[in-house]
Amino acid sequence: MKVVKTISEVRAQVKDWKKAGLSVGLVPTMGYLHEGHKSLIERACQENDKVVVSIFVNPTQFGPNEDFAAYPRDLERDAALCESVGAALVFHPEPEEMYGEGFHTYVNMEVLSETLCGKTRPIHFRGVCTVVSKLFHIVTPDRAYFGQKDAQQLAIIKRMVRDLNFDIEIVGCPIVREPDGLAKSSRNTYLSPEERKAALILSQAIHLGQELTQNGETDAEKIVQEMKNLIETEPLAKIDYVQAVDAVSMQPVSKMEGAVLVAMAVYIGKTRLIDNFIYES
Ligand code: PAJ
Repeated sequence: MKVVKTISEVRAQVKDWKKAGLSVGLVPTMGYLHEGHKSLIERACQENDKVVVSIFVNPTQFGPNEDFAAYPRDLERDAALCESVGAALVFHPEPEEMYGEGFHTYVNMEVLSETLCGKTRPIHFRGVCTVVSKLFHIVTPDRAYFGQKDAQQLAIIKRMVRDLNFDIEIVGCPIVREPDGLAKSSRNTYLSPEERKAALILSQAIHLGQELTQNGETDAEKIVQEMKNLIETEPLAKIDYVQAVDAVSMQPVSKMEGAVLVAMAVYIGKTRLIDNFIYES
């Protein structure tokens, strides 16, 4: 497995693979890889001849008061994990390689990026769409893999691929959780032992929401309210949002009909964590 830092090295490698008739999968990440990322890379390796993992903490998707500088990084460990799973190439550019001097072009999605996380993080999805578009142009994969953990991101990428005619199949992969239920996240490393325990309130609320829908509750507001009530029993938790939205358009719904995404963002101390489930009637 190779680790490269420049766009031209990626292009040269992919060109060779394509000449040989090989299919290419891409797994975009910001590194500090865990079992969630690993499941995406494994799936990509099963479905493609060659797999590229990008590891890039993308500055344009972080707000001025967010954790860009503090975001955990460990390239050596990440590269070892990629190799052990079977990736062929790791692309690890410096910010200057991706955003050269005078960079002024952004991909901005309307509507879908204005709800849920987009409300609290107004420039986040512009940064995500921009960097993922760039990665798609650089790697030109046949398939790209994204986690359901970031459900709004996945919906936005699917929309972007249709809107901008990328000839790439977007594959969504299920949420990987810790044994006790907490969704795996690079940001879990920020949690103190006490906060780590408190963070369980997110997956417990997800479980409660799922249980209510399984028992036949169709009023989305009621489900959301019960989930909020549970989260509020945890003193270290502060709700950013809990909301039910249409799973494709990301617009609020009042009834559990069709495909509904029930998503939440909750601060545990200073750490903002997300979780969700999809209900399909
Ligand atoms: P990052 O947070 O590193 O996540 C990379 C990919 O791993 C995303 O598609 C995310 O949904 C998936 N992932 C993270 N935790 C997961 C879990 N517990 N189970 C399943 N999948 C999980 O998301 C980003 O990076 C960035 O926004 C990126 C798309 C790379 C653009 O910069």
